[in-house]
Amino acid sequence: MSRYKITFLPMNVTVESDASAPKPADDGTPGSVLAIAIDGGINIDHACGGVCACSTCHIVVKEGIDSLRAAEDDEEDALDNVPGLTLNSRLACQAVPDGSADLTVEIPDWNRNAVSE
Ligand code: FES
Repeated sequence: MSRYKITFLPMNVTVESDASAPKPADDGTPGSVLAIAIDGGINIDHACGGVCACSTCHIVVKEGIDSLRAAEDDEEDALDNVPGLTLNSRLACQAVPDGSADLTVEIPDWNRNAVSE
């Protein structure tokens, strides 16, 4: 499977993507959950612009975590500083799905960007 869906909570909005054609990104790694969210009109804070330097793009993966590329050391280090860290926490700017499963991710309250542009 290379086409897959990501459902973002709590807004319960689902965005489709294709792992064989990763979304290019101005912010975050191409094909990342952040790139897909931005493309789908979902606001996730990303203060550092997606370079793994701020951890404001923290997400909690509720389903499909095994389809994400493993976290590198710099992502693990950044995650150490997030409030509400869970075993399923990732940084949206670094988490790249391989398309083997659909995902459900939750954006924690404190890093939901309520500004609509
Ligand atoms: S946007 Fe800064 S770490 Fe992801």
